Amino acid sequence: MFELLAWVEQSALGDALRGSGVWTYGLLNLAHILGIGSLFGAILILDLRLLGVWRSIPIPTIVRPTVPLAAGGFLLAVLSGILMISFNATEYLGNPFLYVKLPAIVFGIANVAVVQRLPAWRHALVGTEVGSGDRRVLAIAGAISLITWLTVITCGRMIGYW
Ligand code: HEM
Repeated sequence: MFELLAWVEQSALGDALRGSGVWTYGLLNLAHILGIGSLFGAILILDLRLLGVWRSIPIPTIVRPTVPLAAGGFLLAVLSGILMISFNATEYLGNPFLYVKLPAIVFGIANVAVVQRLPAWRHALVGTEVGSGDRRVLAIAGAISLITWLTVITCGRMIGYW
């Protein structure tokens, strides 16, 4: 792990970022927060709908704005996160919150891939009547997603306090 973090820190990217002025880290942190806000704001609305809140709003109506917003927010968070960690990667060695956060992000993305393949999700997307079996599956998917992204955010926030 130390070798990986040292390689990231000593890379040309890390050197360039550290030499690029006092505002760079702060601006990257701002981008990270904007990405997280877009990702989690969108996910929260979608997952609450899957859990049964706002039943009168059809799922495709919620999916249309939230999924692209979550995807864009995720990309921004990942890009800015990689750039931020390149500043001083070795300082995070042994930080348990980073070690939980990164696998939780991978799990969150794997969960998206699985949910997209579920018959219940495909039924919901085309707006066909969602039966109680589908509703239960979608609610479980929404709960797993919410717990996962809350874990990522909590660990992200706690990294700096370790
Ligand atoms: C490869 C992806 C990512 C990397 C490498 C990364 C890396 C980082 C780093 C280095 C910090 C600063 C920690 C510190 O020293 O205080 C941070 C903060 C944070 N990250 Fe990430 N991050 C990634 C993705 C995400 C995602 C997807 C989320 C949320 C869904 C997230 C949530 C947070 C939060 C909440 C903070 C605290 C921000 C603050 O209080 O200023 N991160 N991340």
